[in-house]
Amino acid sequence: MDPHYNHLPPKIPAPPTKKIGTGQAHSKIILMGEHAVVYDYPAIAMPFTAVQVEVKVHASHKPYTSIDCQYYRGPLEQIPEHLENLKTALHLAIESMRLKEIPLDIKIESTIPQERGMGSSAAVVVALIRAICDFYHVQISDYQLRLITNEAEVIAHQSTSGIDTLVTSSSNPIIYRKSQKPHSFKLDLDAFLIVADSGQAGRTSLAVNHVHELKKVKPHFVEQAMATIGRFVNQAYQAIRLGDRTELGRLMTYNHYYLNQLGISNQELDRIVNAAWLAGALGAKLTGGGLGGCVIALAEDQHHGEIISEAMMKAGASKAWLLNLSPVK
Ligand code: PMV
Repeated sequence: MDPHYNHLPPKIPAPPTKKIGTGQAHSKIILMGEHAVVYDYPAIAMPFTAVQVEVKVHASHKPYTSIDCQYYRGPLEQIPEHLENLKTALHLAIESMRLKEIPLDIKIESTIPQERGMGSSAAVVVALIRAICDFYHVQISDYQLRLITNEAEVIAHQSTSGIDTLVTSSSNPIIYRKSQKPHSFKLDLDAFLIVADSGQAGRTSLAVNHVHELKKVKPHFVEQAMATIGRFVNQAYQAIRLGDRTELGRLMTYNHYYLNQLGISNQELDRIVNAAWLAGALGAKLTGGGLGGCVIALAEDQHHGEIISEAMMKAGASKAWLLNLSPVK
């Protein structure tokens, strides 16, 4: 027998049957730097709390763990492949925190649209782990929470920079680079951000693979594009710190131009971006993995934000949110 085996602490028992564990998480928006962040350039992302997910967990009367969400209702063991990340996350949480496994009923309620570059898969996993921790009454460090979520994200998206995990579990915007410690900061800019859903599913894995393949064929072009996007992101961070919304908008637009050159945009996204520019946006770009998903635009005030948002809807967006970037003091 392993000599260390006897020293393992006892497993944490399940709580009384009536206990309900709850966990929440929000979605995220990448302001600048998607794709480049995969190649270790910086990106800026922010929590987007207008859409959220809540998970509730309690002991089941059935002999197996079941999941109840918008896309699947049934035993966890038979969960469809595209939701496998939930199974992985649950098993990892139970193993790594040494929780005594019992059959659970897990209910997931989410207003985060799936596959829109809003980090819905990471957010669901973050909320699930938080609900499990609440149920078993255990504390989890941010580090451990992110480690488990990243493992699950690798299943959902194959490759991930980790930015979704970080921002869906954080309450502040973050400037992030894979090889460095993330830096969170307070965003206080006299401007409004419009987030418009194209209504078309984004295809992050496909887009990440596309760039990967393009890099094999045109290494110099892709490396230059990534380095340039990385520079824009650093300049955008300075613009935010200086309160320079015009400069931020300009950089967002340039960022979109480079994403377009990399083949990450499509006609629908470009139409919405163009509509935002024509309606007077300070800048506009796709956000997230691309090839569908969402577009963001920067407006100088709420009035312009409403006009731009309407123009984006007319250009094909299925939904739009208006976000004040200067939090009410
Ligand atoms: O589509 P989303 O929100 O998961 O964003 C993907 C962002 C990428 O930079 C394209 C990939 C990543 O893992 O960072």
